[in-house]
Amino acid sequence: MRIDIITVVPELLSSPLNESILKRAQESGHAEIYVHNLRDYTDDKRRTVDDYPFGGEAGMVMKIEPVFRCIEKLKSERDYDEIIFTSPDGITYNQHEANRLSLMKNIIILCGHYKGIDYRIREHLITREISIGDYVLTGGELAACVIADSVVRIIPGAIGDEASALTDCFQDNLLAPPVYTRPAEFNGWKVPEVLLSGNFAEIEKWQEEQAWSRTKELRPDLIDGK
Ligand code: ADE
Repeated sequence: MRIDIITVVPELLSSPLNESILKRAQESGHAEIYVHNLRDYTDDKRRTVDDYPFGGEAGMVMKIEPVFRCIEKLKSERDYDEIIFTSPDGITYNQHEANRLSLMKNIIILCGHYKGIDYRIREHLITREISIGDYVLTGGELAACVIADSVVRIIPGAIGDEASALTDCFQDNLLAPPVYTRPAEFNGWKVPEVLLSGNFAEIEKWQEEQAWSRTKELRPDLIDGK
């Protein structure tokens, strides 16, 4: 899978996209992530990417031309399945959307900034608008990292232990059961007996029960489908 991220602050993206699982997924060829600096698509000396809004409100607005040039260049090189804009007024991101995106071949993520972007970009170039939650970030870069991270880790083969991606929280609308490691007792705090029993049927039953009870208690909306 290929992800092209368009931003005015490329520095914000380098570390989150180049460590740990994302680094390995790129090294093993499961994912390609490219970051494009929007200023490289400007045509003035000051590399201007924003301008004052028509109508005289406060704040700056991302200009249409550099975004258009960048997206058109990428589109002339390959087909894209989705051109995403990160914005607090998009659809709320969740595991279902991550799964859907992980099946795609090429996606673009345009990071929003300033007060907004010229609305014509959203009307004519963007195919999906995504919010990572009901709060406002300084820009869409962190949202783009969240999307890239959550998508790349579930590309088949991207993490060595594939089963662990499939048993993630939310994959079956349930929270994950608790996990423990050695020592079996620390400070008088014991690991649940069943996990030490070696009885895998019993362990699986316990894990399912825990997943259900934790979800019912902490996130009943996942079970009710609200
Ligand atoms: N840009 C600013 N806030 C955002 C949010 N909550 N989700 C996605 N992009 C954003």
